[in-house]
Parts: sequence; C-alpha cells; structure tokens
Amino acid sequence: MLVYTKNISKAELNKIALDKDKIESFDKRDEAGNYRLEPFMRVRSNTSRTNKPKFWYPIYVSKDLKDITLTKKNNYHKVFPIDNDREFTWKTKPETFEKRNVGDYFVAVEQQGQIIILHKYREQQVIKNLWMDKKYFPEFQGTNLLKNLLGKNLFSYPKSLYAVLDTLKIMTSNNDIILDFFAGSGTTGHAVLEMNKQDGGKRQFILVEQLDEHISVCKERLKKVTAQEGLLSGNFVSCELMSYNEVFMERIQSAESSEELLDIWRDMSKDSVLNWYVKPHKPMEAEEHFITINDVEKQKQLLAALLDKNQLYVHLSEIEDETFKVSEADKLLNKNFYKGGDDV
Ligand SMILES: C[S@@+](CC[C@H](N)C(=O)[O-])C[C@H]1O[C@@H](n2cnc3c(N)ncnc32)[C@H](O)[C@@H]1O
Repeated sequence: MLVYTKNISKAELNKIALDKDKIESFDKRDEAGNYRLEPFMRVRSNTSRTNKPKFWYPIYVSKDLKDITLTKKNNYHKVFPIDNDREFTWKTKPETFEKRNVGDYFVAVEQQGQIIILHKYREQQVIKNLWMDKKYFPEFQGTNLLKNLLGKNLFSYPKSLYAVLDTLKIMTSNNDIILDFFAGSGTTGHAVLEMNKQDGGKRQFILVEQLDEHISVCKERLKKVTAQEGLLSGNFVSCELMSYNEVFMERIQSAESSEELLDIWRDMSKDSVLNWYVKPHKPMEAEEHFITINDVEKQKQLLAALLDKNQLYVHLSEIEDETFKVSEADKLLNKNFYKGGDDV
C-alpha cells in the first residue's frame, strides 16, 4: 500500500485495533470509544524508585475508593507503587497524573488488602507491515463474497472487503468522502457502507469506473448491499458522463463494413471535434483512398485516430452551450454535485 499526502499533519493513522484478539482485549466502552483498564504502576526490572525518583510519589485514595487525588487527605489510603516489597514507579510524573485525573480515568480497586490504581488504556494497535490474516485474502473475502452476493462469478480477483474496510478504519473519520477512481467491482463502496453500519458514521463515496461490465457489477453489488437489513443509511446515485465524441467512438467500434465507416466519417466531419491536424474538408481522393484500404479494422483505427480524445465527453465548462442541449435537471445535478449542495 502506498500512501501519499499533501499535508503530513493530516496523514495520521487512527488509533484503533484491527486484530480480533486485540479488539477483544479492549473490553470496556465510554463515550470516547473502547478501552481497557491497566495498572498505573510500572513494574519493570529497569524501573525503580532510585533510578526514576520523579515517578515515585504517593496517591491518596478515599476509603470507598471513589476519590483518587495527589492532595494529602486524612483518612485516605496513601498508595505508593510497591509490589512484593519492591519499590517501582508510577507510569507518569505527578503533573501528568493531575492532568489525566479527570472523570473516571483512574480507578482504584482493592486486591488482597492492597489498593491497586488502574487507568484507562484506549484502543490501539501497532499496525503491522504484513496483513496476513485470512480476512484479507482476496479468494475468500473478495471472489467468494462477491459470488455469494451476486449469485455468480462476475469479476476476476476483487480485493477482500476487509482489506478495504480496515484501511478505512485506520484512515478515515465519520464524515469523510472516499474516492476510488478505479472502482472495479465496487469493493470500496461496499466497505464504506459496511463501515458506516459498524460505527454509525456518515461517510460518503465516489466511485469512478470506465468499463460497462464493471459498472454493472458495481451497481448490482451496491444495490444488494444497500438493500441488506441493518444498514443505517445507504443509497447511491449513479451518473454517466455526457458523451460527445464518444458517440462516434462507439459507432466506429460497432461498425461492420467500410460503407458504414464512410458514413460515420461524413457525420464526423459535420458534428465531432477532430484532432487539430485534421482538415474537416475531405477531398474526393481521400475518400477513394479510404475505400482502397479495404480492411475494416485498419479503417476503424484510422477514423478513431481522427477524433480528439479530449472531447469524448461534454466538459462541465460547456454545460450552458446550446449545442449540447443539457437539460435543466442535469444542470442542477451537476451544480449540486460540484458545489456540494444538499438538495440533489
Ligand atoms: C484492479 S481494478 C479495481 C478492483 C477493485 N479495487 C476491486 O477490488 O473490486 C481496476 C479498475 O479500474 C478501471 N479503470 C482503469 N483505468 C480507468 C480510468 N482511466 N477511468 C476509470 N476507470 C478505470 C478498470 O476498468 C478496472 O475495473
């Protein structure tokens, strides 16, 4: 996976766990997310009161264990980081303790007559370089998953849904728009819907695809997924670029004879945008020469080469041009799409 960013400060990975055993170890939850409780005492062979004296100080805990403070109080337990008579340290200096001691960040429990101080440890995991878990295998969670959803095998080697899902987990937040310029079978759209379902997020997606067969797999898949039970919000709009020269490309591709191609050429010289080096006016000899080529495939290549490929579709900047007869509804749709309006 290659990751690029325009702004490195925005390229932080989210702090979350991806592996099942790690996720399960964060067994508690509050409004800020999942966490587990860990001892606030640092028990390591190389940490001791002597070599880290600033990390050694008393913590006062009320008899009912509810109040935990650094302020000396009568009738409170005075707790030091001692384990089996060995003097260790706390995990932070007192200043940091004070800062973190808000709400129920610290918890005191009594175990065998000893007061233990615990603290909240938020869900996180060092993201591994190699994603080897079975859930990332394209065979099972890509090919088979898609086959089960659509009833047949319509796309070769789609990525695993979970590879994309976990990528979204570490890289996106609730209101992001996720763009996949090479949508293929639509794994990214599926993963965004699944992600929103899991965490109640409102992520949106934009998928771009050029091949008709892949577009239909993509749409079919997203229809099935959005229809599945339990989706909080899930719908999508599918748009096609408005064809210009592409109309001629399609005619050229499906033509079967030289005569047909000659007709297309005549239409092209009236209604298409030809490459700058092509003179729209064709003398008769050029037509005669075209006929003598006598090879439909070669003639197709020749005509395709005449068309300006930058004009295959109508440009947004030409939307008001009467030549293209863009409907008012399409104009509104474009306006909302490109300006991020709400009333699409
Ligand atoms: C490897 S596939 C993507 C697979 C997808 N991530 C999945 O797991 O289902 C790449 C896709 O990009 C499409 N593609 C390639 N060039 C494109 C372009 N210029 N514009 C739009 N789509 C393009 C191809 O048709 C193909 O479907």
